[in-house]
Amino acid sequence: MSEAENSPLQNDQRHSILIFGASGDLTARKLMPALFTLWSEGFLPDDSPIFGVARREKTDNEFRSEMRIAVSKYGRQGEIPDDKWQKFSQRLFYHRLDLDTLEGYVGLHARVEETEAEVFGPDVAASRVVYLAITPSLFLASVENLCAGGFKPTHDETHRLRVVVEKPFGRDLSSSLELSAGLNRLLDESQIYRIDHYLGKETVQNILLFRFGNAIFEPLLNRHHVDHIQITMSENQGIESSRGGYYDTSGALRDVLQNHVLQLLCLVAMEPPAVFLGDQIRDEKVKVLESLRPGSDNINEWAIAGQYVGGTLDGEAVNGYRQESRVAPNSRRETFVGMEVYVDNWRWAQVPFYLRTGKRLPERVTEIAIQFKLPPMHPFSTVECDSNGEDCGLVGSRPNSLVFRIQPEESITLSCSVKQPGHQYNLARQQLKYQYPHGLAEAYERLLLDVMRGDSTLFTRSDELEAAWRFVQPVLDHWETDKHQPDFYQVDTWGPQAADKLLSKSGREWREP
Ligand code: BG6
Repeated sequence: MSEAENSPLQNDQRHSILIFGASGDLTARKLMPALFTLWSEGFLPDDSPIFGVARREKTDNEFRSEMRIAVSKYGRQGEIPDDKWQKFSQRLFYHRLDLDTLEGYVGLHARVEETEAEVFGPDVAASRVVYLAITPSLFLASVENLCAGGFKPTHDETHRLRVVVEKPFGRDLSSSLELSAGLNRLLDESQIYRIDHYLGKETVQNILLFRFGNAIFEPLLNRHHVDHIQITMSENQGIESSRGGYYDTSGALRDVLQNHVLQLLCLVAMEPPAVFLGDQIRDEKVKVLESLRPGSDNINEWAIAGQYVGGTLDGEAVNGYRQESRVAPNSRRETFVGMEVYVDNWRWAQVPFYLRTGKRLPERVTEIAIQFKLPPMHPFSTVECDSNGEDCGLVGSRPNSLVFRIQPEESITLSCSVKQPGHQYNLARQQLKYQYPHGLAEAYERLLLDVMRGDSTLFTRSDELEAAWRFVQPVLDHWETDKHQPDFYQVDTWGPQAADKLLSKSGREWREP
């Protein structure tokens, strides 16, 4: 992590922020609320201009009004007082642009330069952060046009143009390599910030700090003490109507597992880097991805695809995936993935990592659960207690677990056995828990700030991306074949039965978060 960590931007760090795709959902829901919060908390200098760029005709004032509604609706502050909004919004500008035609970029560049000269003074060479919140098919064309339209800095001033790219970064290994090669022809790798918003979550950042900031856990996190690790990222929502078209060409493996879930796996499995700096941390993550191996030679035995079918949820009928808007009625796209994988290295050899993600599961929850081995002997009986500490009867022995709850009810919990008070030697399960305070920062706040600070620790480097695609590619290929059908599961269940078998074949079971 950089030395600039924890500090607001310095006065000599002048930035213009350009959001391409300013009429889209991401700008309204995430980007503008995050920029407003950063400014409110003093992390964004008062004068940094923010340009919304999109195809539609709109005046600056119309853009400002739309953004006010969005920030009030989606921001952490709720309703914004007039004077505060006035102060913030005076730096918001709107610029109409056809992203795929060069001419408009020259005009955009002139306007940005002119505005910067007004607000920063004529001699300040400001940096430009360009956020591509646009359809991936326009990524390359817009970066090409940016460079040709006057935004490309000289070789020794590359920091003056930083481009933030939203996922998906390709839809498979070859398209991702093609995109990276295209971007790398135009920009230096240090100018490209590939967002995986999971890395911006407070609880995700804490995984490394918790692991390497405490001497007592790290010696236990290896094959000698850990039985297995489960990573769950489940959602209770189905597919929103605006996303059916995208999702039906993507599916859970591309949408979530290849990026968010594998990133979580990297953080829990990686070795400590020699120094806590962006590239060294990412080097360690790449090593984890390159050590991944499937749980079996037969893909059907280690990678399970599921698709939800309709049913009732809280007394209401809900659609199955194939009935969702803009989804093909005979779609074979997976809305659930379960996997058994191994990190084939000295530390983790033979420790299974079970991964699952899916839509329309019973809860929205993301967690990493490290399950330790049972004590070598167990002379006591164990009493299971409920969350109030009430005695719920005798059970077999229970292993310790360490659970990183990424969201919601963010926490880190260590489950231990203690003596149940009374005149017998019974063990009861109890928890040591760190509960995060409410109102944690939104991932995009941290990520946008890091782009401006020039800290790429929490962004995906091209070799990480490549290694992640390389690992999932055989599964994508297998599922593309005509024969492969996903296993169906009812809404409000934890996925298809085949996913249970990943664990039950070795006598294990999924936790119920
Ligand atoms: C996105 C996926 O990257 O992450 C969505 O495209 C998913 O399908 C979302 O719903 C989940 O993010 P979060 O932060 O709500 O867990």
